[in-house]
Amino acid sequence: MCGIFAVSAQPNNNAGYMIMEGIKKLEYRGYDSWGVAVRIKNEIITTKKVGKISEASVIFTPSSEGIGHSRWATHGGVTDDNAHPHTAGNITVVHNGIFENYLEHKKRLSEKGRIFISQTDTEVIAHCIDDEMGQGKSFLEAVRNTSLLMKGRFGLLVMHSQYPGIIAARRGSPLIIGRLPNQTFIASDITAFLSETKVVNYLDDDEMAMIEGNSVCFYSIESGISLEKRDITVPWQVENTEKGNYAHFMIKEIFDQKSSITDAINHTEEEIMSLINKMKEGNGVYLIACGTAHKMCWAAEYFFSRIAKRKINVVPASEMKNFEQFINEKTVLFAVSQSGETADVLEVLEYGKKQNAKIVSITNVLSSSIARISDVHLPLQAGIEKAVASTKAATSQMALLLLLAYADAGRLNEGRQMLHTLASSINDMLNPRYEQRVEEVAKQIFQQNNTFIIGRNALYPMALEAAIKIMEVSYIHAQGFAAGEMKHGPIALIEKNSPCIVMGDDSETLSNAMELKARGGFIIGIAPEKQEVFDAWLKVPDGGEAQAIASILPIQLLSYKLAILRGVDPDMPRNLAKSVTVK
Ligand code: M6R
Repeated sequence: MCGIFAVSAQPNNNAGYMIMEGIKKLEYRGYDSWGVAVRIKNEIITTKKVGKISEASVIFTPSSEGIGHSRWATHGGVTDDNAHPHTAGNITVVHNGIFENYLEHKKRLSEKGRIFISQTDTEVIAHCIDDEMGQGKSFLEAVRNTSLLMKGRFGLLVMHSQYPGIIAARRGSPLIIGRLPNQTFIASDITAFLSETKVVNYLDDDEMAMIEGNSVCFYSIESGISLEKRDITVPWQVENTEKGNYAHFMIKEIFDQKSSITDAINHTEEEIMSLINKMKEGNGVYLIACGTAHKMCWAAEYFFSRIAKRKINVVPASEMKNFEQFINEKTVLFAVSQSGETADVLEVLEYGKKQNAKIVSITNVLSSSIARISDVHLPLQAGIEKAVASTKAATSQMALLLLLAYADAGRLNEGRQMLHTLASSINDMLNPRYEQRVEEVAKQIFQQNNTFIIGRNALYPMALEAAIKIMEVSYIHAQGFAAGEMKHGPIALIEKNSPCIVMGDDSETLSNAMELKARGGFIIGIAPEKQEVFDAWLKVPDGGEAQAIASILPIQLLSYKLAILRGVDPDMPRNLAKSVTVK
């Protein structure tokens, strides 16, 4: 959460504009407010505002150096004052993460007479650094000492109005340095400067860097000793990050699934088996993820059980603390994440690393923190996913997990063949006529306040995923249930015209659908064949073991259409951010 972008020694003196472009590319990390600070001689000029960067228009004074930020609020409401950068004396700071013990230091510094303008933890960082310098510390020492006293995860950039250069410090929140012969970039994500350079240095946890023009010096935060770093050239292409003729990224990314499922399974046997063999080295596998990725893992629990006869423990990363006692050198922690930066997941992996657990992962963002901490990593290859709602990354996660289950069972080729057949049916299904059909169904329910979704087997986690999708983009309350569970309580909520989405057409689920219909429910069936109980029907291909993948697609489209009908921006729903880097 929160995007950071900076440039040092921009030769055309248009640092302000360049930073705006950089933070626009990072807007997916947070879009409550934005801010830019540029150096003009011995002054740092800050511009910051509530609202979307894409809607901002600013005229910057020529400058060659500066820092920028796109915010997802944690401490303090969404106000101009709380937007980053924050300044204290000569110090200006942008920050991603949480300064967990900031209140203690705010109190200490208040007692020294310091006045705070915002409610943020970040402003306290600026004051801590300024206070250290007041005690005679150098700029570098002051940032190091402040980093040492901070509890929690952070990615931090600091400027001093009287000294050129930018100091970066990292613990837990990503910061990558991009290098050119005459200038340097710093960002939360490589894609923010990929059009300029592919030569990077990764700042690892508990490291800091002093950046001035093309000079970058690295230090350990712990010891202060200087560190050597190799330049790494990332083999990435600048991805097409435009939405083209689509109205929103969400709908573009839904349609990207015409090819993304094939791309997800495009790994060699050797790559697939390296992950499976690592899993087999352990004697207990925990599949950990958050949100939508967690629901995809839950479907994978069914895949591994049915196909590979392997029991996998699927745990939301934020709940994994309860099971830490079982993590040891024999444990396999299998992380699944689109961004590869989700703090709850990273925290589990960092704990596992200390216990010598084996770590494997699937992420969409290459070189993410999760990918880098893993013993074996497979990329999702879904292409950049910008909309907050995960769509193509989700189905790619399921496709790859399903292929892994087949590989675990020694049936890799069979799995690959089956998924290719499914991908081709999905390619046929995603067409304007189908979109129209989904819109007609959306029109029948968009004014309702509640939606219920049921499914059985791997379609049960899909019912839970459907609820996430509908809620996060349309703000309609939605709840998913195991099909057989409704009659144990929630059926009490069903009244005339309650929208009930029924995923699947096995006889037991159809009986459950009848029970809902008998209480007045409006039944929307998602299944390969039309059934009498359905009031509306969204046809999906018969996907066999991959039915969950086929069945979530109409839900993604439906959620999108509901958002549009209700006047919500599906790409940037309120209160959310794409990459959840705080706990
Ligand atoms: O980047 P990750 O896959 O680790 O993100 C996990 C969740 O935050 C994410 O899936 C979230 O639930 C999405 N907004 C759902 O569409």
